[in-house]
Amino acid sequence: MSDNVTPTTGAPAYALQCQDLKKAFQGVLAVAGATFDVPQGQITALIGPNGAGKTTIVNLLSGMMQSDSGRMQLVGTDVTNWPSHKIARRGLMRSFQLSRELGGLTVLENLLVAPKHQAGESLFNIFFRPLAVRREERENVERALETLKTYGLYDLRDNRARELSGGQKKLLEIARAVMAQPRVLLLDEPMAGVNPALIDRIGGYILDLKASGVTVLMVEHNLNVVEKICDHVIVLAEGRTLATGKLSDLRANQDVVQAYLGEVINASTHG
Ligand SMILES: Nc1ncnc2c1ncn2[C@@H]1O[C@H](COP(=O)(O)OP(=O)(O)OP(=O)(O)O)[C@@H](O)[C@H]1O
Ligand SMILES: [Mg+2]
Repeated sequence: MSDNVTPTTGAPAYALQCQDLKKAFQGVLAVAGATFDVPQGQITALIGPNGAGKTTIVNLLSGMMQSDSGRMQLVGTDVTNWPSHKIARRGLMRSFQLSRELGGLTVLENLLVAPKHQAGESLFNIFFRPLAVRREERENVERALETLKTYGLYDLRDNRARELSGGQKKLLEIARAVMAQPRVLLLDEPMAGVNPALIDRIGGYILDLKASGVTVLMVEHNLNVVEKICDHVIVLAEGRTLATGKLSDLRANQDVVQAYLGEVINASTHG
């Protein structure tokens, strides 16, 4: 046995690494050379003014949009411009800023539509391993029901998703992403527009995910939330990484205060 105090597991220190990512819409750069790392096993906040490019970065990282240039690594693997299903299979899931529930399906069905590696997805399995397919379907339903219990949605399992309140839709967004058992979870404003009690509950869920080993990158405007639950902060302004570090250090950074924190501190952290 080695007498190292910190054992080296060989796992990369960063769940995500981005170098000089760029993405333009109609010639206007929404992401203009973003470079940052997201440490494994921590909660990282992605903050910045409206239009800074936060959602576009989430779209690039999850493979829903292709970057014009730059590189992205997911747990040490170069995944630049991989399609979203391939990135999901590697363990990255995301939620949406505007909830994208399938309104006509029930809450339970919303969780069952996309669990990863379903045996039933393969025609070979359906014909030659029907028992395995059925067992897996049963396990998925059980896991979906457990997930709904965790997020306080179990009693609503048979309701149509469109009947949920805004806050419940936010919970469903998270539950759907968690159902796929991600190791990296991107949350785009998971608490926007929800009441303070639910903000605390969602914060608790995100801390529980971290405790179970999930790396979280979350877009968040509420600095009280960032202060409470995030280990690390990335500040984006006009598509570029302006600064990274702990929120307390960033508050002392004049560039950051001028670009963003000044207005938000006044708006949200007093009192
Ligand atoms: N699909 C698109 N087509 C054209 N322009 C887009 C598209 N998506 C984003 N943009 C533009 O790119 C810029 C960055 O948008 P983005 O949604 O990434 O910002 P954001 O930081 O998430 O803002 P917010 O805090 O308001 O959610 C904005 O100017 C936006 O209008
Ligand atoms: Mg956004």
